[in-house]
Amino acid sequence: MAQKDEFLNTLRDQVVIVTGASSGIGEATALLLAEKGAKVVLASRNAGKLALLAKRIEEKGGSCLAVPTDVTSPEGVGNLLQKTLDRFKTVDVLVNNAGVSLVKPAADTAEAEMRSVMETNFWGPVRCAKAVIPTMTAKGKGQILNILSQSGRIGTSCQSFYSASKFALAGFSESLRQELRPHGIAVSMVFPGFVQTPMSEAPLKAARKAGISLHPVSAGTAAEHIVKAIRCRKEEVTFPAMSRLMIIAHFFCPKTVEKLISMLRKRMYG
Ligand SMILES: NC(=O)c1ccc[n+]([C@@H]2O[C@H](COP(=O)([O-])OP(=O)(O)OC[C@H]3O[C@@H](n4cnc5c(N)ncnc54)[C@H](OP(=O)(O)O)[C@@H]3O)[C@@H](O)[C@H]2O)c1
Repeated sequence: MAQKDEFLNTLRDQVVIVTGASSGIGEATALLLAEKGAKVVLASRNAGKLALLAKRIEEKGGSCLAVPTDVTSPEGVGNLLQKTLDRFKTVDVLVNNAGVSLVKPAADTAEAEMRSVMETNFWGPVRCAKAVIPTMTAKGKGQILNILSQSGRIGTSCQSFYSASKFALAGFSESLRQELRPHGIAVSMVFPGFVQTPMSEAPLKAARKAGISLHPVSAGTAAEHIVKAIRCRKEEVTFPAMSRLMIIAHFFCPKTVEKLISMLRKRMYG
């Protein structure tokens, strides 16, 4: 975060939709964006949590709109865009952050569970991206930022469907980026490692119990990376440094890194 503020694009009055804003990384990102002067549209299923977050933002003088949304519903996503346009007339940035985790061996995963992960983590962001593209294309400017995962670069044992959803989203993002670049729209991919949030609570607990230190970053730190990616229109961000290292190591020595991951998983989950 060493870069001086004046060299970065301003967020003042930028309209930013954040999905999965009721918790963890999305909540921290929404708060930071509002602090920087953005008009933040808060989207997730839990209306009560969104209303509380909206109150916190407004009490600090920020501008926001809470739109309870299930990203697995085409009507819900259509309503999210419509409410955003009704209130703020435009949309400048979409942060596709809503996601669910699934830690289970592939062989034990039921059809409904595997479909549900893909529906939220892949089709959800795709649906939201498709909803905002016409508005962004019409004004020749915009940014779609997809929150992926280290597991979207390195397949992770006992998380095959989660990994698959993030790999799929990475492929979509890379292709979409090429399509939208000529229209002035940036497509960014953010690959976090472990972040301390409700989603990572169970794996972090299992790791601690097995005597493994995973050194998660805070949701606030993740939010700083995301906000900087928006302000610099960065196309790719991976954090923390350990995740960058793992991805590079996997590129050169995939077997070694995969063996290391499955050994750690075995110690965590037996
Ligand atoms: N925590 C980590 O270590 C980590 C690491 C790498 C990547 N990530 C990614 O970061 C993103 C945020 O995760 P997090 O750690 O902040 O998890 P979290 O605290 O569990 O938050 C997940 C958010 O997604 C929302 N959500 C889930 N299903 C949804 C749906 N169908 N429609 C709309 N919103 C939905 C939840 O809100 P509602 O329940 O209110 O809908 C919640 O706000 C995810 O994409 C995750 O894969 C996390």
